[in-house]
Amino acid sequence: FQPKVLSGRKVVITAGPTFEALDPIRGITNHSSGKMGFAIARAAREAGADVAIVAGPVSVPTPRGVRRVDVKSARDMLAATQAEVPQADIFIAAAAVADWRPVTESDQKIKKDGSGSAPTVAFTENPDILATVAKGERARSGALFCVGFAAESHDLVKHAKAKRERKDIPLLVGNIGPLTFGQDDNQMLLVDAQGTTELPRASKIACARRLVAEIARRLPRT
Ligand code: C5P
Repeated sequence: FQPKVLSGRKVVITAGPTFEALDPIRGITNHSSGKMGFAIARAAREAGADVAIVAGPVSVPTPRGVRRVDVKSARDMLAATQAEVPQADIFIAAAAVADWRPVTESDQKIKKDGSGSAPTVAFTENPDILATVAKGERARSGALFCVGFAAESHDLVKHAKAKRERKDIPLLVGNIGPLTFGQDDNQMLLVDAQGTTELPRASKIACARRLVAEIARRLPRT
């Protein structure tokens, strides 16, 4: 018997990379398979939640019973997320959002001009989806529990603690290295106001179920 710890709750999850177009053919993106976010969606659904996943370009199957909204850019992801969170109890930002996008998107393919010179691309910063949602009224009032992720190449504990405080969220999950993408397992470092807890390495679905349990016990009672 598995108790449905999230029944009656709505969960919104971002997953996968974003794609920031340069022209109709090309763009810049981040490494992310979307597997962790999709595993969390599955685990939250198993726990009885109403689940919406806002997904960048990924090729993983949608878990049964999960509503999926497909997006490309960070700005699309922010808009789709903001449309979902007003009714949500939990927001989990598992997406690998591109920090910058090209200032302009050419509506025609950028062609080589034969001179051997290369184009220069100017970038501008993308919105921070998690920080924006966490600053919103629903999160501030405690009605929306926000969870972030951190993938770091070094000093995970230090960066993860600082990131939780900077984004002003109750729970942050550090991905304990090595940095691998598309893997089927993960090791989580949980960071909350009490401190840090290192969990054992496990499959992504086992990690996701544990994360759902950790979130459920931190939620305000309804
Ligand atoms: O700031 P950094 O990218 O390291 O933070 C990672 C966390 O913030 C992840 O939860 C990620 O999904 C979220 N994030 C976001 N929007 C961004 C950048 C990161 O939601 N533009």
